[in-house]
Amino acid sequence: MSGFADDRQMGGFKDFYQFSAPTRVIAGRDLLGSAGFEFAKEGARRILLVTDAGIRATGLVERVVDGVTDGGLEVAAIFDAVPQDSDGDVVARIAALAGETGVDSFLALGGGSVMDSAKVANLLFTHGGAARDWEGFYGLPRADGGAGRPLELAPLACIPTTAGTGSEVSFAAVIKDRGAQLKYQIGDHALIPRLAILDPASTATLPPAIAAATGMDAMAHAIEGYVSRDWNAHADACALHALRLIGANLERAVHEPGDEAARGNMLIAAALAIAPTSCGAIGIAHSLSHAVGACFGVPHGVANAIHLPVVIEFNAAGGEDVAARYRDVSELLGLPGAGEVGPMLAEHVRSLVRSLGLPTRLSQVGVVEAGIPLLVQGAIGDACTLVNPREATAEDLAELYRRAL
Ligand SMILES: [Fe+2]
Repeated sequence: MSGFADDRQMGGFKDFYQFSAPTRVIAGRDLLGSAGFEFAKEGARRILLVTDAGIRATGLVERVVDGVTDGGLEVAAIFDAVPQDSDGDVVARIAALAGETGVDSFLALGGGSVMDSAKVANLLFTHGGAARDWEGFYGLPRADGGAGRPLELAPLACIPTTAGTGSEVSFAAVIKDRGAQLKYQIGDHALIPRLAILDPASTATLPPAIAAATGMDAMAHAIEGYVSRDWNAHADACALHALRLIGANLERAVHEPGDEAARGNMLIAAALAIAPTSCGAIGIAHSLSHAVGACFGVPHGVANAIHLPVVIEFNAAGGEDVAARYRDVSELLGLPGAGEVGPMLAEHVRSLVRSLGLPTRLSQVGVVEAGIPLLVQGAIGDACTLVNPREATAEDLAELYRRAL
């Protein structure tokens, strides 16, 4: 092992890490009908169901409501107006509805925005305040003057309808501040959902373009997580198996939407791929993507699909220890062992993105060069920038945006 790897702690025995994945995951077929039976085991009785208008139109809400009531629980209210990106106003409205209707639990049925909205609404419902008051990691109330166990929120169950975000098992939520044109994160153990139900029936109506974009978000979590400064052995195990599943299932899940096994395996891959963020952030593809989402409304998965290749090239050129980690990824995806890993892996990801029918350049999704200074401001302050394996300055981030344009 090189001395460099020891210096950067990308190998060997790490001085410290923590890993937490307490969500009870149930995965398989025909699980929507037992949503109530399962959620009752987490203490839920009277539920606020959080979803969006797109899901409402698919008929999934009715199936889940039937499943909840079959288990003897009550859906006291449904909030179905979560926008593409969750924001402080929408979570305040959900929290207010929870208070007015006297619920004791939340059930999120949707993609990342729906699940993140439910997480933060639950936080406001329990502890009050506005979403932005809780920005940052590890700021939620704990017992014993802040030194004890996290104060529990109401039980939250998630049924993801996209396979990508991993929010159903993660400790963080991403919220958009529309006024400030940025996205910020709230992360703490109490936000981790109690139950995640992974059933391919919930992604059966997912359009191929969204399956592709959200699948690339999962791939970004696995690759960025595996090379992050915050790498750890527990998360590595999850990230690498997530990559195997993504390599074997993503294209089929997009091109053959009726392939229940591929769709189901992508749900499992997404829940595994988020493991590197179990106690922290990931890397600068996410920093770049949060900013273009906040300033230009680019969907998160599409933004990650565009940014991941340029970030791989940038990071892999930053040192042998980082390149070695990308070689693990590359080998796992079946790429040849010879040659420079950065450009080779980046090109592999680019061709995958093209084959999925997604855009490969920011200029294709409405981002203009004049916007780069504002984007850099958002990206440099993002929590994900701190744990990127290669230090990225404002000028580096500007250059990455230009390369992706
Ligand atoms: Fe993501």
